[in-house]
Amino acid sequence: MANILVTGGAGFIGSHTCLVLLSHGHNLVVIDDLSNSSSVALERVAKLAGVGFGKERLQLIRCDIRDQAKLEAVFTSKANCSSQLEAVIHFAGLKAVSESVAKPLHYWDVNVSGSTALLAAMEAHECRTIVFSSTSTVYGEPEFFPLTESTPTNPIHPYAQTKLAVEQILGSLAIAGPWRSACLRYFNPVGAHPSGSIGEDPLGVPNNLFPYITQIAAGRHEKLRVFGDDYLTDDGTGIRDYLHVMDLAEAHAAALDHMLQSRAPLNLTLNLGTGKGLSVMNVVHGFEAATGVTIPYEMVGRRAGDVPKLEACPKKAEKILGWKAKRSLADMCRDGWAWQSANPNGYRGSK
Ligand code: UD1
Repeated sequence: MANILVTGGAGFIGSHTCLVLLSHGHNLVVIDDLSNSSSVALERVAKLAGVGFGKERLQLIRCDIRDQAKLEAVFTSKANCSSQLEAVIHFAGLKAVSESVAKPLHYWDVNVSGSTALLAAMEAHECRTIVFSSTSTVYGEPEFFPLTESTPTNPIHPYAQTKLAVEQILGSLAIAGPWRSACLRYFNPVGAHPSGSIGEDPLGVPNNLFPYITQIAAGRHEKLRVFGDDYLTDDGTGIRDYLHVMDLAEAHAAALDHMLQSRAPLNLTLNLGTGKGLSVMNVVHGFEAATGVTIPYEMVGRRAGDVPKLEACPKKAEKILGWKAKRSLADMCRDGWAWQSANPNGYRGSK
């Protein structure tokens, strides 16, 4: 059991990870600016975990990750009540690729300056254990598969550049002092907790495939536009390595345990995926088979910035953490639909 700070813990991956961490007995302080997330997610996490919201096991503090004074105050107040923060899981950040191209300074500010503000507060309070939310998009447009952690990185937009920059900062810290860090490179997390009470709730029209499909099923959009059917893949549509968000959440708990148990400094980089790529049409048909809901679609041109294929080699995570994605595409679809059908408008308007 440890006292953990979770930045961005009200978001999609953050809220699912909070639930898993609570089930492992950890006490959580979440900081989140709620700019692309809802406190209702954490109220529901508390209910699912059987803990009080706003009490010792799960607190939420509204805070911008760049607000160094407020971060300092969070660390100090926990230390003053003898529940010193022992580790951080750092999700807070911006993640829309096209927005990052349009507003690069904003991305460098929030994602990189926000992370250095957090790391400075951690350093000042001798809390030097961190799990960092990174992305498979740091590999750019790779030629050789599967992607291992030693595949050269090639970030092709500011979003990927900022994520890689934070990985590099963590590398520098590991050389300078006794830091324990794990950079988790996520492939494509989808689905929801099987209860259907928490899930993905993007602002506006979703950019990503899976929430777009679940929102079509819920009647919020007419049809899917499949971006490109002329890639050199079996059915011509893009291939990604989709993994269930609960598998991903469990990987965070495993990475945290691994670091808390290590006496030596660590600077790990781990791919998190299933190792099995699926095309857009595999996902569409998988969703239809798992839910019985038809997804209308049309083929349109490629989306700028998309790569044909991303697929993880997840063996290092299995070797080091003993973690392996165990849920199927059918599980992802069933659970994602359980969430969207029970919450057609996400957290908005719900209590
Ligand atoms: C995208 C980001 C990635 C980010 C991730 C966050 C881009 C180029 N990449 O990943 O950097 O880490 O989201 O979750 O934005 N698709 C359609 N129709 C749609 C939406 C998507 O056909 O309406 C296709 C895409 O062309 C792609 C696949 O579905 O082949 C997956 O797309 P998406 O869910 O957006 O994920 P990524 O592009 O892999």
